[in-house]
Amino acid sequence: MGRFRRFNMTPMRRCGLWMVAIQVVMIIGIMSVYTLQPGWPILTSLYASGEESYTDVMDPIILPALPETYTLVDDDRPYFTLLPNGLSCFTAGTDLMKSSTSSSNSCNCLAGYYGRDCGIPEPVWHACQALNNCTDFKPRKTPRRLIHGLNINHELEFFQVRLEEVGDVLDVIIVGESNLTAGGDPSPLYLLPELRKGFMGGFQHKIIHIFIDHFPPEGLTDGWFADTFIRDYMGQEGLKRIKGIRDEDLFLLLDADEIPDRSTLLFLKLYDGYPEPIALTLRWSIYGFFWKRAVSGSPLVEDVTRIVAISTMRMIREVYDNKVMSLRRNYLTTEPLLSRVKAYTLNGHPVMEWNIGRVGAYAGFHCSWCYDAEGIRLKLTSAQKDDKPRWGDYPEKLDLGYISGLIRDGRWFDNTKPFFLAKPEEDRLYAPSYILKHKDRFDYLLNLPSADNATRSS
Ligand SMILES: *[C@@H]1O[C@H](CO)[C@@H](O)[C@H](O)[C@H]1NC(C)=O
Ligand SMILES: *[C@@H]1O[C@H](CO)[C@@H](O)[C@H](O)[C@H]1NC(C)=O
Ligand SMILES: *[C@@H]1O[C@H](CO)[C@@H](O)[C@H](O)[C@H]1NC(C)=O
Repeated sequence: MGRFRRFNMTPMRRCGLWMVAIQVVMIIGIMSVYTLQPGWPILTSLYASGEESYTDVMDPIILPALPETYTLVDDDRPYFTLLPNGLSCFTAGTDLMKSSTSSSNSCNCLAGYYGRDCGIPEPVWHACQALNNCTDFKPRKTPRRLIHGLNINHELEFFQVRLEEVGDVLDVIIVGESNLTAGGDPSPLYLLPELRKGFMGGFQHKIIHIFIDHFPPEGLTDGWFADTFIRDYMGQEGLKRIKGIRDEDLFLLLDADEIPDRSTLLFLKLYDGYPEPIALTLRWSIYGFFWKRAVSGSPLVEDVTRIVAISTMRMIREVYDNKVMSLRRNYLTTEPLLSRVKAYTLNGHPVMEWNIGRVGAYAGFHCSWCYDAEGIRLKLTSAQKDDKPRWGDYPEKLDLGYISGLIRDGRWFDNTKPFFLAKPEEDRLYAPSYILKHKDRFDYLLNLPSADNATRSS
């Protein structure tokens, strides 16, 4: 104040000067929030294709640290409706009006749902015909809790799609992220910094992030070893932090590019009466949903991905010894798992692989190499060292123009063409519904780039 007095200012002028100063400070502050976000350039390039995806960064929510431990609670949402005529129907699969006036002893199902109480979705309906004619399922009093484990590299878009699609039916998500690539090279963390800024804020209370800061030397020469290490580490460290696990709760192991079908997961949570482990048959797309993988030797016959992905927590513990990758590798008929399977069976828990999903009634989506050209290049250079041929070792295969050409023509890095075009207009299962709902943002996954675009980017 003393300084101002020397210039002999009127109170009016003094006030004006303060206002200007305050405004300048505010403008600088706002500018730095928007331009000096750490990680902002990475996210913008990852999300280059849509404006919606920026919202998480534009409104950073500063959250407390991710939960160290998570205590499972019971899901007491009402999934069934008890009608005046005594029928109990799965609400989301039932025409409640028709069912309440029905005199039969089963509910009237909406399209895509089956069974007495309309709780069996289409992928399960096909899978249970041979199992038990779909008659032996009983709704549980308390739903199983569903623990989902996955490892992530730079698949932030698919992480969001996963949570938007099935986040509400997952009880807890364990996500493993390493500061090393599968090839053992240093790698930035992509997910954790975004989570800290508020990415997927609505789900953060049930995300357990497992940071993997080391890598066994064997992994450098053995890709399977590396794959197994990061998944088992994610599973073991993650499960340790979850309290209140029950034997009948489920574990679901997927890769970052596999999006499960929501109705199938919900069925598994709500019902008893099926065997384990459970395999999921997924629609298999490459580069985007426009290319489908063909069966080898039949260029127009659609191929699918089938993965053993789900078992009870009892089986995770007693058969797989908490090594979750063993679920996926599925070597149940040879030692060391064979004797554990025998003991498990003798204890009254039959082991039989049950596959859910088929062409046209998929249990989810597997979109391989579904990035833009830059994302594909990043995946190439992050790949395991022993997975030969390692396309990332060939400089010409890292050229963005070359990669755009592969996407456009549906070719693989060895110049074969094992893909054929999907027909989005006649395909109600073209892509996960969240992606279909956000057409502009996911344009690069939904629409084959034109020849024009591809040549320009080279
Ligand atoms: C399903 O029902 C049919 C007709 O009732 C019967 O012949 C068949 O054995 C049943 N299959 C199974 C797996 O229960
Ligand atoms: C990974 O993280 C650990 C722990 O912070 C650190 O000691 C290690 O040097 C990191 N590795 C690389 C390659 O950055
Ligand atoms: C491809 O080019 C067309 C027009 O030439 C443009 O509208 C479209 O956004 C471009 N797509 C991509 C993925 O660059």
